[in-house]
Amino acid sequence: MSDHPAHQDTPDAAPADGTAPTGEADAAGRAFRELLRGLRVWDCELPAFDPARAPAEPLPLFRQWLREAAEAGQPEPHTMTLATADAAGAPSVRTLMLHDADERGWHFASHRGSRKGRELAARPRAALGFYWPAVGRQVRVSGPVTEAGPEESAADLHRRSTGALAAALVGRQSEVLDSTEELARVSEAAWERAQREPDAAVPSWTLYVLHPEEVEFFQGDARRRHVRLNYRHEGGRWTTELLWP
Ligand SMILES: Cc1cc2nc3c(=O)[nH]c(=O)nc-3n(C[C@H](O)[C@H](O)[C@H](O)COP(=O)(O)O)c2cc1C
Repeated sequence: MSDHPAHQDTPDAAPADGTAPTGEADAAGRAFRELLRGLRVWDCELPAFDPARAPAEPLPLFRQWLREAAEAGQPEPHTMTLATADAAGAPSVRTLMLHDADERGWHFASHRGSRKGRELAARPRAALGFYWPAVGRQVRVSGPVTEAGPEESAADLHRRSTGALAAALVGRQSEVLDSTEELARVSEAAWERAQREPDAAVPSWTLYVLHPEEVEFFQGDARRRHVRLNYRHEGGRWTTELLWP
């Protein structure tokens, strides 16, 4: 379902530097906006979600929704957006893999020295976003983040694929890279080591656990009567509320 009438004409925005758009830039801008207007959301059969039948806690519902997204053919439903903020409060986001979700929280892993690792050290709070278009569902999770400790981090890494270990061994994540040739050289050596030494240590690799304070479930609806169910953890128990879409 397109969010705008297909032939609605919007005036072209001027370039940010205040100069007039050239004919070519103008046409490219128009084509791009046309493309955006033609793209659709919530344009398939979507599951119904009755919040009155939702469980008292968010974890079982999250696991159910992730499983249903996978079963509906959603590619990579275990990938998510992780938002962190630096010491001054400036936000940043990136995509990460979810390693687990249990009674402790939502687990993910990365290098402690990466941008996100440094931001989490400065401000140990984060938010996660999952979007599963195959079922029109979104989940948001937010709360404080702790490190799981070296042994658990190593065990989590060594349970994963050779490629994951090789990638972790490359290290220096988020630093400036001088050339792609340098990456190829280091990566080659990392793959060889990961194959030879499946228990190789990567001290900077860290398993993090986000302890949920809020978890919001959003079920998209073709008529835009989206259902939003928000769980809040307060005084040792979960409460729920509906939110206007
Ligand atoms: C599908 C996908 C999965 C990813 N999974 C991870 C992950 O589990 N851990 C990780 O450190 N980076 C992962 N990345 C790379 C991050 O998105 C990001 O580029 C990297 O962690 C550096 O982020 P930063 O500079 O903000 O710290 C993944 C990227 C994609 C596209």
